[in-house]
Amino acid sequence: MPDTPPNIKNALQISGLQAWYGVSQALHDISISVVTGELVTLLGRNGAGKTTTMRSIVGMVTRREGSILVNGVETVSMPSHKIARAGVAICPEDRGIYASLTAEENLVLPAIVAQGGMSVSEILKLFPSLKDRLGSPGMKLSGGEQQMLAIGRILRTGARLLLLDEPTEGLAPVVVQQIGAAIADLKARGYTILMVEQNVRFASTVADRHYVIDRGHVAETFDNQTLLADFDRISARLSA
Ligand SMILES: Nc1ncnc2c1ncn2[C@@H]1O[C@H](COP(=O)(O)OP(=O)(O)OP(=O)(O)O)[C@@H](O)[C@H]1O
Ligand SMILES: [Mg+2]
Repeated sequence: MPDTPPNIKNALQISGLQAWYGVSQALHDISISVVTGELVTLLGRNGAGKTTTMRSIVGMVTRREGSILVNGVETVSMPSHKIARAGVAICPEDRGIYASLTAEENLVLPAIVAQGGMSVSEILKLFPSLKDRLGSPGMKLSGGEQQMLAIGRILRTGARLLLLDEPTEGLAPVVVQQIGAAIADLKARGYTILMVEQNVRFASTVADRHYVIDRGHVAETFDNQTLLADFDRISARLSA
Protein backbone atom coordinates (compact mmCIF):
# COMPACT_ATOMS: atom_id res chain seq x y z
CA MET A 1 0.00 0.00 0.00
CA PRO A 2 1.32 3.50 -0.83
CA ASP A 3 2.20 5.60 2.23
CA THR A 4 0.49 8.60 0.71
CA PRO A 5 -2.45 8.91 -1.69
CA PRO A 6 -1.63 9.45 -5.39
CA ASN A 7 -1.19 13.09 -6.24
CA ILE A 8 -2.00 13.86 -9.86
CA LYS A 9 0.41 16.83 -9.87
CA ASN A 10 3.29 14.45 -9.22
CA ALA A 11 5.18 13.23 -12.28
CA LEU A 12 6.79 10.72 -9.94
CA GLN A 13 5.57 9.36 -6.65
CA ILE A 14 7.55 6.57 -5.00
CA SER A 15 6.24 5.05 -1.78
CA GLY A 16 7.83 2.37 0.39
CA LEU A 17 10.18 1.21 -2.36
CA GLN A 18 12.38 -1.80 -1.65
CA ALA A 19 14.78 -3.19 -4.25
CA TRP A 20 17.12 -6.15 -4.61
CA TYR A 21 20.14 -7.16 -6.70
CA GLY A 22 19.91 -10.96 -6.67
CA VAL A 23 19.21 -11.83 -3.04
CA SER A 24 20.93 -8.70 -1.73
CA GLN A 25 18.55 -5.93 -0.63
CA ALA A 26 19.84 -2.48 -1.69
CA LEU A 27 16.81 -0.27 -0.98
CA HIS A 28 14.79 -0.61 2.23
CA ASP A 29 12.23 2.16 2.33
CA ILE A 30 12.36 4.93 -0.23
CA SER A 31 9.52 7.44 -0.55
CA ILE A 32 10.11 10.32 -2.94
CA SER A 33 7.80 12.58 -4.88
CA VAL A 34 8.58 14.95 -7.73
CA VAL A 35 5.98 17.49 -8.85
CA THR A 36 5.64 17.96 -12.62
CA GLY A 37 8.20 20.57 -13.69
CA GLU A 38 10.29 20.24 -10.56
CA LEU A 39 14.00 19.45 -10.40
CA VAL A 40 14.79 17.25 -7.42
CA THR A 41 18.15 15.76 -6.48
CA LEU A 42 19.27 12.64 -4.68
CA LEU A 43 22.30 13.39 -2.54
CA GLY A 44 24.30 11.04 -0.34
CA ARG A 45 27.53 9.16 0.09
CA ASN A 46 29.01 6.49 -2.20
CA GLY A 47 27.03 3.27 -2.07
CA ALA A 48 24.03 4.93 -0.40
CA GLY A 49 21.55 3.69 -3.03
CA LYS A 50 21.12 6.75 -5.30
CA THR A 51 21.81 4.92 -8.56
CA THR A 52 19.74 1.95 -7.39
CA THR A 53 16.79 4.29 -6.78
CA MET A 54 17.11 5.57 -10.38
CA ARG A 55 17.54 2.05 -11.77
CA SER A 56 14.52 0.84 -9.77
CA ILE A 57 12.30 3.49 -11.35
CA VAL A 58 13.06 2.10 -14.83
CA GLY A 59 12.96 -1.55 -13.73
CA MET A 60 16.70 -2.27 -13.93
CA VAL A 61 17.02 -4.24 -10.69
CA THR A 62 16.29 -7.89 -9.90
CA ARG A 63 13.14 -7.19 -7.89
CA ARG A 64 11.15 -4.19 -6.64
CA GLU A 65 8.37 -3.84 -4.08
CA GLY A 66 6.33 -0.82 -3.08
CA SER A 67 4.75 1.72 -5.38
CA ILE A 68 6.23 3.79 -8.23
CA LEU A 69 3.65 6.04 -9.89
CA VAL A 70 4.78 7.72 -13.10
CA ASN A 71 2.25 10.38 -14.06
CA GLY A 72 -0.22 8.58 -11.81
CA VAL A 73 0.33 5.17 -13.46
CA GLU A 74 1.55 2.30 -11.24
CA THR A 75 4.73 0.94 -12.86
CA VAL A 76 6.21 -1.25 -10.12
CA SER A 77 5.14 -4.49 -11.83
CA MET A 78 5.88 -3.35 -15.39
CA PRO A 79 8.84 -4.46 -17.53
CA SER A 80 11.31 -1.72 -18.54
CA HIS A 81 9.98 -1.16 -22.06
CA LYS A 82 6.46 -0.47 -20.72
CA ILE A 83 7.82 1.88 -18.05
CA ALA A 84 9.58 3.84 -20.82
CA ARG A 85 6.22 4.29 -22.54
CA ALA A 86 4.91 5.95 -19.38
CA GLY A 87 7.27 8.78 -20.35
CA VAL A 88 10.41 8.27 -18.26
CA ALA A 89 14.01 7.96 -19.49
CA ILE A 90 17.31 7.47 -17.70
CA CYS A 91 20.71 8.94 -18.49
CA PRO A 92 22.94 6.41 -16.70
CA GLU A 93 25.97 7.03 -14.52
CA ASP A 94 28.33 5.41 -17.09
CA ARG A 95 26.67 7.46 -19.89
CA GLY A 96 26.23 4.32 -22.03
CA ILE A 97 27.73 5.72 -25.24
CA TYR A 98 28.50 3.07 -27.87
CA ALA A 99 32.21 3.44 -28.65
CA SER A 100 32.10 2.29 -32.27
CA LEU A 101 28.94 4.15 -33.30
CA THR A 102 29.15 7.78 -34.36
CA ALA A 103 27.75 10.52 -32.16
CA GLU A 104 24.82 10.87 -34.56
CA GLU A 105 24.11 7.11 -34.50
CA ASN A 106 24.23 7.18 -30.70
CA LEU A 107 21.84 10.12 -30.71
CA VAL A 108 19.15 8.44 -32.80
CA LEU A 109 19.42 4.99 -31.19
CA PRO A 110 16.85 5.05 -28.37
CA ALA A 111 13.26 4.27 -29.34
CA ILE A 112 10.70 7.08 -29.46
CA VAL A 113 8.22 6.51 -26.61
CA ALA A 114 5.97 9.56 -26.94
CA GLN A 115 5.22 12.41 -29.32
CA GLY A 116 6.82 15.78 -28.77
CA GLY A 117 10.44 14.68 -28.37
CA MET A 118 13.19 17.03 -29.52
CA SER A 119 14.54 16.86 -33.06
CA VAL A 120 18.27 16.41 -33.65
CA SER A 121 18.55 20.09 -34.59
CA GLU A 122 16.85 21.16 -31.33
CA ILE A 123 19.27 18.95 -29.38
CA LEU A 124 22.19 20.56 -31.20
CA LYS A 125 20.86 24.00 -30.23
CA LEU A 126 20.92 22.86 -26.61
CA PHE A 127 24.43 21.39 -26.97
CA PRO A 128 26.12 23.41 -29.76
CA SER A 129 29.50 21.75 -29.21
CA LEU A 130 28.08 18.44 -30.51
CA LYS A 131 27.41 20.00 -33.94
CA ASP A 132 30.92 19.42 -35.28
CA ARG A 133 31.22 16.02 -33.63
CA LEU A 134 28.26 14.18 -35.18
CA GLY A 135 30.44 12.02 -37.44
CA SER A 136 32.96 11.10 -34.71
CA PRO A 137 32.87 7.66 -33.09
CA GLY A 138 31.75 7.58 -29.47
CA MET A 139 35.23 6.56 -28.32
CA LYS A 140 36.73 9.79 -29.72
CA LEU A 141 34.40 12.09 -27.80
CA SER A 142 35.51 13.89 -24.64
CA GLY A 143 33.79 13.09 -21.34
CA GLY A 144 31.76 16.30 -21.65
CA GLU A 145 30.68 15.51 -25.21
CA GLN A 146 29.68 12.00 -24.15
CA GLN A 147 27.61 13.43 -21.31
CA MET A 148 25.87 15.91 -23.63
CA LEU A 149 25.14 13.10 -26.08
CA ALA A 150 23.81 10.88 -23.27
CA ILE A 151 21.39 13.62 -22.17
CA GLY A 152 20.58 14.64 -25.75
CA ARG A 153 19.52 11.21 -26.86
CA ILE A 154 16.92 10.77 -24.12
CA LEU A 155 15.38 14.10 -25.17
CA ARG A 156 14.57 12.59 -28.59
CA THR A 157 12.44 9.87 -27.03
CA GLY A 158 9.61 12.17 -25.97
CA ALA A 159 10.05 11.31 -22.28
CA ARG A 160 9.14 14.25 -20.03
CA LEU A 161 10.46 12.72 -16.80
CA LEU A 162 14.26 12.58 -16.97
CA LEU A 163 16.49 10.66 -14.58
CA LEU A 164 20.03 12.07 -14.70
CA ASP A 165 22.65 10.09 -12.77
CA GLU A 166 25.67 12.28 -11.89
CA PRO A 167 25.66 14.40 -15.06
CA THR A 168 28.69 16.43 -13.94
CA GLU A 169 30.90 13.60 -12.68
CA GLY A 170 34.53 13.97 -13.76
CA LEU A 171 33.91 17.05 -15.91
CA ALA A 172 35.92 20.29 -16.00
CA PRO A 173 34.25 23.36 -14.45
CA VAL A 174 33.58 25.00 -17.83
CA VAL A 175 31.79 21.86 -19.05
CA VAL A 176 29.86 21.59 -15.76
CA GLN A 177 28.63 25.12 -16.49
CA GLN A 178 27.45 24.12 -19.98
CA ILE A 179 25.64 21.07 -18.62
CA GLY A 180 24.10 23.28 -15.91
CA ALA A 181 22.84 25.76 -18.50
CA ALA A 182 21.28 22.94 -20.54
CA ILE A 183 19.60 21.46 -17.46
CA ALA A 184 18.22 24.90 -16.51
CA ASP A 185 16.92 25.24 -20.08
CA LEU A 186 15.16 21.84 -19.83
CA LYS A 187 13.59 22.87 -16.54
CA ALA A 188 12.37 26.10 -18.14
CA ARG A 189 10.75 23.99 -20.88
CA GLY A 190 8.76 22.12 -18.25
CA TYR A 191 10.65 18.84 -18.06
CA THR A 192 10.57 17.05 -14.72
CA ILE A 193 14.03 16.02 -13.57
CA LEU A 194 15.28 13.68 -10.85
CA MET A 195 19.06 14.01 -10.65
CA VAL A 196 21.72 12.23 -8.64
CA GLU A 197 24.48 14.67 -7.81
CA GLN A 198 27.58 14.41 -5.61
CA ASN A 199 28.55 18.00 -6.36
CA VAL A 200 26.34 19.73 -3.78
CA ARG A 201 27.36 23.20 -4.98
CA PHE A 202 26.21 22.36 -8.52
CA ALA A 203 23.02 20.78 -7.18
CA SER A 204 22.23 24.01 -5.32
CA THR A 205 22.41 26.02 -8.57
CA VAL A 206 19.69 24.07 -10.41
CA ALA A 207 17.45 22.21 -7.95
CA ASP A 208 14.16 22.96 -6.19
CA ARG A 209 14.41 20.25 -3.53
CA HIS A 210 16.72 17.53 -2.30
CA TYR A 211 16.56 14.07 -0.74
CA VAL A 212 19.50 12.59 1.13
CA ILE A 213 19.79 8.82 0.64
CA ASP A 214 21.65 6.77 3.25
CA ARG A 215 21.93 2.97 3.39
CA GLY A 216 18.90 2.45 1.17
CA HIS A 217 16.64 4.82 3.11
CA VAL A 218 15.61 8.47 2.74
CA ALA A 219 17.56 10.06 5.59
CA GLU A 220 16.45 13.65 5.11
CA THR A 221 14.71 16.00 2.70
CA PHE A 222 14.90 19.78 2.38
CA ASP A 223 14.22 22.51 -0.14
CA ASN A 224 16.96 24.38 -1.95
CA GLN A 225 16.57 27.53 0.17
CA THR A 226 17.36 25.46 3.25
CA LEU A 227 20.45 24.05 1.53
CA LEU A 228 21.65 27.52 0.52
CA ALA A 229 21.01 28.97 3.98
CA ASP A 230 22.93 26.18 5.69
CA PHE A 231 25.27 25.20 2.87
CA ASP A 232 28.55 24.61 4.73
CA ARG A 233 27.03 22.48 7.45
CA ILE A 234 24.89 20.36 5.12
CA SER A 235 27.61 19.80 2.52
CA ALA A 236 30.17 18.93 5.23
CA ARG A 237 27.77 16.37 6.67
CA LEU A 238 27.15 14.83 3.23
CA SER A 239 30.85 14.34 2.60
CA ALA A 240 31.75 13.24 6.15
N1 LIG B 1 24.76 -4.61 -9.82
C1 LIG B 1 24.83 -4.73 -8.48
N2 LIG B 1 24.81 -5.93 -7.88
C2 LIG B 1 24.85 -6.06 -6.54
N3 LIG B 1 24.94 -5.02 -5.67
C3 LIG B 1 24.97 -3.79 -6.20
C4 LIG B 1 24.92 -3.57 -7.64
N4 LIG B 1 24.98 -2.23 -7.86
C5 LIG B 1 25.05 -1.65 -6.64
N5 LIG B 1 25.04 -2.56 -5.67
C6 LIG B 1 25.08 -2.30 -4.21
O1 LIG B 1 23.92 -1.55 -3.86
C7 LIG B 1 24.24 -0.53 -2.93
C8 LIG B 1 23.83 0.83 -3.47
O2 LIG B 1 24.64 1.12 -4.61
P1 LIG B 1 24.36 2.36 -5.57
O3 LIG B 1 25.14 2.13 -6.82
O4 LIG B 1 22.90 2.54 -5.71
O5 LIG B 1 24.96 3.56 -4.73
P2 LIG B 1 25.15 5.11 -5.12
O6 LIG B 1 24.52 5.90 -4.02
O7 LIG B 1 24.72 5.37 -6.50
O8 LIG B 1 26.74 5.27 -4.98
P3 LIG B 1 27.80 6.15 -5.85
O9 LIG B 1 27.76 7.51 -5.25
O10 LIG B 1 29.10 5.46 -5.59
O11 LIG B 1 27.40 6.10 -7.29
C9 LIG B 1 25.73 -0.65 -2.64
O12 LIG B 1 25.89 -1.41 -1.48
C10 LIG B 1 26.25 -1.41 -3.85
O13 LIG B 1 27.39 -2.16 -3.50
MG1 LIG C 1 25.70 5.94 -8.21
